[in-house]
Amino acid sequence: MIVPIIAIDGPSGVGKGTACGHLSTRLGFRLLDSGSLYRLVGLACEWDGVSLDDEVGCTAVAAALDASFEHAQGRLRVWMNAREVSAAIRTEKAGQDASKVAVIPGVRDALLDWQRHAAKWPGLVADGRDMGTVVFPDAGLKIFLDASTEERARRRHQQLLDGGQSVTLSAVLDEMRERDVRDRTREAAPLEAAQDAKVLDTSGLTLDAMLAKVDDWADQYLSNL
Ligand code: DC
Repeated sequence: MIVPIIAIDGPSGVGKGTACGHLSTRLGFRLLDSGSLYRLVGLACEWDGVSLDDEVGCTAVAAALDASFEHAQGRLRVWMNAREVSAAIRTEKAGQDASKVAVIPGVRDALLDWQRHAAKWPGLVADGRDMGTVVFPDAGLKIFLDASTEERARRRHQQLLDGGQSVTLSAVLDEMRERDVRDRTREAAPLEAAQDAKVLDTSGLTLDAMLAKVDDWADQYLSNL
């Protein structure tokens, strides 16, 4: 029997994490936060003293990744080498480092199996940049969320303030622009909407309106299985 897969892609700060968490809870599906894998590789490189532009070194680190995940009450907890790193992989630096190791084709290949193994019954909601294009090209529902850089930076800034981190909006905007360019222009699996993705620009939408649209698409997909 085919496992239903809902792939949600888009740039950073667009609300993919919120949409995926919401959908997986509502549907009782598994959740793959693929960005956390790239964040873990960045952190593991730092621990091992591997430079982020050392392609061979980063690929070896990705191939040896020792991580475990637990989802509880809509929150993802992550361990690496038996140390909890849930907070350590959520900083802005961890996001930038993830984006740097993500340009390396060997790193992406090493993480493919991790990601594909997440597709298990009763279904999967996959959050990332290349879920619909590379990792799950046969996903039954592909959604690409987008929003202007300014809007995404404003949302991310608020999230960071709420989480107790002190950063300026202009610093968040600069980092987001830098990360967007790298994620969209890299050769290996660049961030782009799959041809058969449903694209939603969330710039002028409230969170509830965005979630309602995503729910609607998911319900249509599942009712036609
Ligand atoms: O979604 P995130 O912010 O946790 O992702 C961090 C970085 O990881 C992102 O800037 C690019 C990379 N990434 C990727 O290349 N492919 C994915 N499927 C997920 C994330």
